[in-house]
Amino acid sequence: MARTPVIAGNWKMYKTIAEAKEFLVELIPQVKECEARVYIAVPYTALAPLAEQAHGSNVVIGAQNMNDASEGAYTGEIAAAMLVEAGAKFVILGHSERRHVFGEDDAFVNRKVRRALDEGLQPIVCVGETLKERSRNQTEEILRSQIEGSLAGVTAKEMSKVILAYEPVWAIGTGKTATPKTAQESHQFIRQLVAELWNEEVAEEIVIQYGGSVKPDNVRKLMNQPDVDGALVGGASLSVESFREIVNFSMSEV
Ligand code: PGA
Repeated sequence: MARTPVIAGNWKMYKTIAEAKEFLVELIPQVKECEARVYIAVPYTALAPLAEQAHGSNVVIGAQNMNDASEGAYTGEIAAAMLVEAGAKFVILGHSERRHVFGEDDAFVNRKVRRALDEGLQPIVCVGETLKERSRNQTEEILRSQIEGSLAGVTAKEMSKVILAYEPVWAIGTGKTATPKTAQESHQFIRQLVAELWNEEVAEEIVIQYGGSVKPDNVRKLMNQPDVDGALVGGASLSVESFREIVNFSMSEV
């Protein structure tokens, strides 16, 4: 595969600074040989210490969200430049928990994507349908509107910095992984859509991660699909043991 796989952990609202540091001390030596790029999206408080700790290793530290404004009177929010200063290299945007629990829409996600790109942060842009939408056969329609909306105005050149994450909402934190075939169908659709909206070259190069109950025992089959280029891992990224196995998926037996 020409695309280098990217496996990203998403710690959500877990781990104190002390716990995060301990995790990284153990992880770094265990992922030296892996063929994937290893990303971890950590809580804001752990960003600066972990970015410093990860320096010189092949683990890349990033954030889970940000605001679209450059600065301002937005109590509790955080700006892209602050994340960059703390050492973040990437940021997850439009995660389904942000969309569904905090009511973020595509227009807001789009403003954040453009801000992140302007500030030199690599966005991981999440899209995915709910169970209801899937049962009504609306998966492709939803993916199209989320991608068109979240990435509006992003140029082909800028798209080379974007990672897409396909995360069917019904598979997140539920233990219900999409079958490799279902994941592949959506990934293939997304890649074709990227070709249509930008061009073939962008579509060929873009990394499309799968997310939703990725575990050591299903990662290999998912990663074997031609259009699955990585994983966005929630629960299983919280233990060194399982995250290490996922990141080293090419050595797993399943
Ligand atoms: P999960 O979460 O692996 O726990 O399903 C994935 C995600 O929310 O990115």
